[in-house]
Amino acid sequence: MSRAHKTLARDGIVAALDVGSTKICCFIGEMDELGIIRVAGIGHQASKGVKAGAIIDMEAAEQAVLSAVHAAEQMADVTVRSVFVNLNGGHPASNSHYFEHPLRGGAIDDGDIRRLLHECGTEADDSVRSLIHAIPVGYKVDGENGIRDPRGLHGSSFGVRMHKVTAATSAIHNLVTCVSRCLLDVADVVANPYAAGLGCLVEDEIDLGVTVIDMGGGTTSIAVFYDGALIYVDSVQIGGNHVSNDIARGLSTPLPQAERMKTLFGNCLSSHADDRETITVPQVGAEEDARAVQIPKSFLVGIVAPRIEETLELVRARLEASGLDKLAGRRVVLTGGASQLPGVAELARQILNKQVRLGRPRGLTGLAEATSGPAFSACAGLLSFAVDDRGDARGLAIPKNDTTGGFFSRIGGWLRENF
Ligand SMILES: Nc1ncnc2c1ncn2[C@@H]1O[C@H](COP(=O)(O)OP(=O)(O)OP(=O)(O)O)[C@@H](O)[C@H]1O
Ligand SMILES: [Mg+2]
Repeated sequence: MSRAHKTLARDGIVAALDVGSTKICCFIGEMDELGIIRVAGIGHQASKGVKAGAIIDMEAAEQAVLSAVHAAEQMADVTVRSVFVNLNGGHPASNSHYFEHPLRGGAIDDGDIRRLLHECGTEADDSVRSLIHAIPVGYKVDGENGIRDPRGLHGSSFGVRMHKVTAATSAIHNLVTCVSRCLLDVADVVANPYAAGLGCLVEDEIDLGVTVIDMGGGTTSIAVFYDGALIYVDSVQIGGNHVSNDIARGLSTPLPQAERMKTLFGNCLSSHADDRETITVPQVGAEEDARAVQIPKSFLVGIVAPRIEETLELVRARLEASGLDKLAGRRVVLTGGASQLPGVAELARQILNKQVRLGRPRGLTGLAEATSGPAFSACAGLLSFAVDDRGDARGLAIPKNDTTGGFFSRIGGWLRENF
């Protein structure tokens, strides 16, 4: 049982908060003895004060978080004290290191594992970037690789490959400040693509190798899983909102109309019928009954497709540069609100040259129709992380004499000093 599981099992209530660029949502889950979560409360509303995943207006973001959490609390009839939050901005970055330690003899036990993880998990944060995950990706005993559970094995050397995810300290600080202003504790911060993956993948995919692409409003973020663990995260600062902006500019139409046109008629792939079908486009600044312009549907596809292509090409470049593309195998799962654009899976298949499926929240019961769509994968994944943090070793960086618990003590001294 993970650290998080132990802490939360007492009252069985876990809360997740996704502070997105487009929407802010809160899920409150009740965990049964088997660790299965039933969503008892849901609150979501349009995001305010958040751009490209980063908080840019504290007051506005605070109000939006408060109302999302309040709505979920009312529905679940509980008051939440702490929340698991995803970090959307902060440019998450991955690096992977191998640490080794001589063994003192005898079979490897929990103490040996703790010592090893403690040693590689306590690397100091610098003031610019902070550690948010320290994930043991596989142990090695006397040169034998890829061991998932080394307990009980004998050997003279013991090592672990550690995947560390860092993010901009300022982005974490702003997020934690925003949540704290709502009188909530931050139970933990999870990199958004990690949460999205945990929310929509099946365990076999995580084992065999898979790339998750969370296509949000302001960002598109990437997570690669292999052999049961997260091995890479990244993000590009383009999302579905850029598509809507392109439509608004390209057709001189107000943004809400552009957004509607995108969801009603948008497509990333052209078809022969596109030149015959027309769409009515209200013009910016026009009186209500003033003339609207008729355009062939192919115009709209001509605006939408290049933006999605650009996004997926950037994703491909990042994956190739990571060197992990081959390890991730041929499977891609697209999720996030913008993955609902028709044709996006086919375009991703062509650009990434992989098998693509669409992902939505799974493994939870009690989700209403309106919140079971792909935009809610990350929020669902936060609940899954709350129940099982999959051996995240960042917690081992807590000094032994620190008994305050919670995210503040885990993230290190900088936050307390600067808060
Ligand atoms: N049916 C649809 N077809 C196409 N796009 C859609 C559809 N529904 C929502 N979107 C787009 O999805 C985007 C929002 O996705 P999502 O809710 O996942 O973003 P977010 O989590 O708030 O943002 P981020 O993760 O970038 O911080 C918006 O750009 C919206 O226009
Ligand atoms: Mg999102």
